[in-house]
Amino acid sequence: MANSFIVSLLLSILYIASASSQSAAPVGSPAGNTTSAQEFIKVSCNVTTDPTICVDSLSPYASSIQESPRRLIFTAVNVSLANIQSTMTLVDNLKKMKGLTFIESGLLSSCAEMFVLGLRDLTTSRGQLDDMYKSKGPDFKQHFEEAKTSIGGAEYNFFFCNYEFDQRKEVVKLRALVIPTVVNVSHILSNTIDLVDKFANATG
Ligand SMILES: *[C@@H]1O[C@H](CO)[C@@H](O)[C@H](O)[C@H]1NC(C)=O
Ligand SMILES: *[C@@H]1O[C@H](CO)[C@@H](O)[C@H](O)[C@H]1NC(C)=O
Ligand SMILES: *[C@@H]1O[C@H](CO)[C@@H](O)[C@H](O)[C@H]1NC(C)=O
Ligand SMILES: *[C@@H]1O[C@H](CO)[C@@H](O)[C@H](O)[C@H]1NC(C)=O
Repeated sequence: MANSFIVSLLLSILYIASASSQSAAPVGSPAGNTTSAQEFIKVSCNVTTDPTICVDSLSPYASSIQESPRRLIFTAVNVSLANIQSTMTLVDNLKKMKGLTFIESGLLSSCAEMFVLGLRDLTTSRGQLDDMYKSKGPDFKQHFEEAKTSIGGAEYNFFFCNYEFDQRKEVVKLRALVIPTVVNVSHILSNTIDLVDKFANATG
């Protein structure tokens, strides 16, 4: 009797421990504890395509994210927007470089156009996420899908820039200046979709 009680107690502790290690959002830590906010970001980022970039890009905002899935998602979108904008600035500056070939300036212009579309899509997703959090049931689901589609659209534009460079293997130096940042933004956007996918349903 006593033994089976202890066994079932142990089992339920194990169950709780494994459930909480799987749960994405540790709860109950005091607000203002940036150690636990950093931990929350690490655990949440573990579900993303590129956890390293995810943690690097979000941990500067730990004190504002705390342990809120919603703030995590909006911060990820804001960070993505900032990264798109800085990539646009980079490309604008490169376009002013002297001695670009016809092909090089064509690639830069094409990517610049893609980034404008990406920025538009991602900006749209912010409104859709706002709508999502204001709704329930099927409406929630619809805005959720819309937001993911918009962020996916933004990501596609960065893939496309990368693809166009891939078609021009002879463009070597310019590629080295542009593509690492473009790939980075693709990963940041992909991570953002993963976070929306995983945590949009979480409360807080
Ligand atoms: C802050 O969070 C960390 C990780 O969850 C925990 O180890 C630590 O005890 C917390 N500190 C305070 C002051 O609550
Ligand atoms: C991330 O996931 C791996 C594999 O599931 C696990 O070993 C690791 O502890 C996790 N890290 C965090 C910070 O949750
Ligand atoms: C994201 O950016 C918008 C506009 O700049 C701002 O109003 C909002 O508070 C930001 N959200 C987070 C979670 O940082
Ligand atoms: C990628 O993005 C992260 C987070 O914003 C940044 O710290 C890093 O410098 C970026 N790397 C490149 C190659 O752009």
